[in-house]
Amino acid sequence: MAVSSYIETDRIILPLRETNGPDGIRICVLPTEAQTAIFAARSIINIPIHKPDATVTFATGNTMVQPYAELARLTATMGVRWSDIRMNHLDEYGGASANDPESFARYLRERVTVPLGIINAHFMNGTADNLEHEAARYESLLTPADLVILGIGPGGHIGFNEPQTPFDSRTHVVQLSEETVSRDTARGQTKRTHAITQGIGNITEAAQILLIAYGKQKAEYLRPVLYNDITPDCPASALRLPGVGPKVSLLLDCEAAAWLNL
Ligand code: F6R
Repeated sequence: MAVSSYIETDRIILPLRETNGPDGIRICVLPTEAQTAIFAARSIINIPIHKPDATVTFATGNTMVQPYAELARLTATMGVRWSDIRMNHLDEYGGASANDPESFARYLRERVTVPLGIINAHFMNGTADNLEHEAARYESLLTPADLVILGIGPGGHIGFNEPQTPFDSRTHVVQLSEETVSRDTARGQTKRTHAITQGIGNITEAAQILLIAYGKQKAEYLRPVLYNDITPDCPASALRLPGVGPKVSLLLDCEAAAWLNL
């Protein structure tokens, strides 16, 4: 296990432990969710600073609320410009309109594009008449991203690539797993059975992949990702494919990394 190190930010010292995971994956562990979110924002902001015209794919979900809030704060404090960054959408619920409070389009508008000042933003249309055509339209807009920001969900899904999704999949329409539907309805959301998602092929071709996770439940999802076989049974295990692992950083709080025994 790697030694603890400290990174100094604007008046914040983050106690970071960094270690090498399997197949070249870098694992960064911070004590709390709040510190993990701050570290995530620090990592993401390097993109507009070093490559102002980069393409970034943004996940949504509970995990990203704090990192994106911190990213907005940091952007304002540091005066970072996102105006030439291209924003891609990772996934969207079928049937969710851009103004629906549960839609990922609205989430990204409120937490990412408006606060960061991103103009070049490309949204999926969850209410398109034909979702298959919408997935194909979206796929035709994509080039490999400079950075993909991911969370992880039931069954080890990344984006909405549920178990058994082929590793070379491109943007497609997916039937959400029972586990994902139950999680979302337990959160009080509308029952939605379908979504559009960028495929595992889109995700793994990115130059850099950041996966953020906090809490004990995420530890359950992550363990097979790192220690079981690389198989479509566990979509996130694609992050260990040859040539992909060294591009991946996992940013975890202590609970999500419990099994790492740091
Ligand atoms: C959302 C997405 C999903 C979520 C995952 C975790 O855009 O791509 O893969 O990242 O379901 O969701 P939360 O963070 O809500 O636990």
